[in-house]
Formats: sequence, structure tokens, C-alpha cells
Amino acid sequence: MTRYSRITGTGSYLPPRRLTNADLAAELAAKGVETSDEWIVERTGIRARHFAAPDVTSSDLGMEAAKQALEAAGLQASEIDLIIVATSTPDMVFPSAACILQNKLGIAGCPAFDVQAVCSGFVYALTVADAMIKTGSASKALVIGAEVFSRILDFSDRTTCVLFGDGAGAVVLEASDTPGILASDLHADGKHVGILCVPGSVSGGQVLGDPLLKMDGQAVFKLAVGVLESAARATLSKANLTEADIDWLIPHQANIRIMQSTAKKLKMPFEKVIVTVDEHGNTSAASIPLALDAAVRSGKVKKGDTLMLEGVGGGFTWGAVLLNY
Ligand code: UT7
Repeated sequence: MTRYSRITGTGSYLPPRRLTNADLAAELAAKGVETSDEWIVERTGIRARHFAAPDVTSSDLGMEAAKQALEAAGLQASEIDLIIVATSTPDMVFPSAACILQNKLGIAGCPAFDVQAVCSGFVYALTVADAMIKTGSASKALVIGAEVFSRILDFSDRTTCVLFGDGAGAVVLEASDTPGILASDLHADGKHVGILCVPGSVSGGQVLGDPLLKMDGQAVFKLAVGVLESAARATLSKANLTEADIDWLIPHQANIRIMQSTAKKLKMPFEKVIVTVDEHGNTSAASIPLALDAAVRSGKVKKGDTLMLEGVGGGFTWGAVLLNY
């Protein structure tokens, strides 16, 4: 019998501190940085974001999302045999946020590691977990996207600091004899490192280079729209399906204009796109599982629906996962 993997539970967590655009604009104005609710809403669709308290880490946020996903799947943490955390803002240089989270879950022994593919991290992590389940090296995986991007924002740069937020989303992915994940398509092109990066590093006890996020927004925007269409088409073709078979498009939540362009290129009505960027901002690797969980809990996404998850971000990395929920 063919072995497949299927999502059996979802969860998410946002830290309690919510800043509307007006709240953030007021904080920035005090530092001499000018922005407005109008600009942010019109150019991005973002209305609010959540920021974690200074002592809260990605594994803390991921832990809350994981607990919910386990509960939704009806599993105990002790039944999990693989943990993958997608993050670019891990708790430490090492060990991985996944190992720290494993210990917080009170379990030990199963493989646990981080995937670093920035905003594409969750589709990368889900694809790796799917492959490990299909080949029999895992049966019940926790796949988590967790980020504290507020830690790496340059609050003197209005072109980036208004865009990002903190949060975590999680799924339980289990072995199944009916297909859940139908196909995936992952890519990277390292020549675009410079358009979206945090160039700093730790060396000899010092931070070398700038440890804050840099982005050429327009270059990222142009690349994102093209690759999101091609990844979706490649994934559909691998599964012998067409755009018409997609019930819900769940793209990385960076900018509502990118999502509108992608839907248009795929000839999908925008009503079929899950949008949470308005309330979450861009939470990088956490954005897709956060949006998925919101759509499941609101009753939009139902058992049996066909979902297209799509990520794009620093690297440059991009990819898509098509699945039967
Ligand atoms: O997660 C990884 C994926 N990341 C993305 O997908 C981000 C992709 N890029 C974008 O979403 C958009 O390019 C941005 C939202 C970052 C920028 O939108 P834009 O429409 O490309 O604006 P722009 O960079 O062309 O800036 C237009 C104007 C500039 O002023 P001038 O030069 O025309 O006078 C900026 O200085 O808007 C100004 N501006 C702002 N004004 C008020 C830039 N940021 C702000 C701001 N508040 N926060």
C-alpha cells in the first residue's frame, strides 16, 4: 500500500502585544521616523501586527502553536517522532529551536531540527516532513513555523519595519493510506542574496556586519509575483490538477498586492485566497501555518478541500505544496 502524509491538526499563536499601524506610527514618530496608517494599508494591506515580549523566543511561540496542533490531532506529545521548525530567528546560534521546543514539550529521542529558508521555510519544512513520512523514517511529525522578526527589524528604516510581525503556526503531519500532500515544488537562487538579508554574523564574540533586516522591496516584489505563479503551476502539473481544482490558495502573507497579482495570474477569484496579512503583518516562516490555522478555525477550510500553500522569501527561496486537507 502506498504511504502518504496528511495534516491531522493545526494550531497557531500570536503574542499578546498587538500594534495597529497607528500605534506603530506613533512609536516611530517619537524616533523621528515618519509613516502612516494610510501608506501601510494602501501599499501592503497590513493593519496590525503582534510583537513578542523581549524574553519570549521563537520556541516559546512555536510551543503554544504546537500544543494546539497536537490537541486538534488528538495526539500526545509523546507520540511525535519528528520535529521540524522553520525559522530565521532561532532562540540561539545553536542548538536549534526544534531541540529547545522538543525539551519544552517534555519529550526526547525523536529527530528535531530547524529549516532555514526564510519566508519559504514552512513549505520547505512540510516537504521534508512529507518525504520522511513517505519513506518510513517518521509517522507523526510536528511541522512548525515560528518567528520573532521584531528582533531583527531596523526601526529607523520605515521601508521595512512596518512590514513584519511575530507569531507561530504548527501542523501535525501523519502517515496515511490516503493522499494528503499531493505534490510540492521547491527552488532557490542564491544570486539574489542581497535583495533580502540580515547580513550580520557572530564571530569571536562580536557581531560582524549589520544584524538588521535589509530589503530591496521592489526587487523582491517583482521576483515574488513571477515565482509564485511558476511554483503553483509546476505543483499542479505534478499532481495532474489545474487551478480550477484549488479550493483555497494560502500564500505567504507579505503584501496583499502580491497575493492579488498571484490570484489573477492563476485566474483564481480573490475570494479563494486566505488573507491574514491585515492582522498579522509578515511573520516570515510562520505566516502560512498561521493563515492555515485561522482558515481552519474560522470554518473556511474544510476536510477534503484542496489547498495550495505558497512561500517566497530571502535566499531567494520559493516553493509550493498542494494538498488535500
Ligand atoms: O517576506 C518576503 C517577501 N517580502 C515581500 O514580499 C515584500 C515585497 N515588497 C513590497 O511589499 C513592497 O515593495 C513594499 C511594501 C516594501 C514597498 O511598496 P512600494 O509600493 O514598492 O513602495 P516604494 O518602495 O516604491 O516606496 C514608495 C514611496 C517612497 O517615497 P518616494 O521616494 O516615492 O518619495 C518611500 O520612501 O513610499 C515611501 N515609503 C513610505 N512612506 C510612508 C516607504 N515606506 C514608507 C512607509 N511610510 N512605511
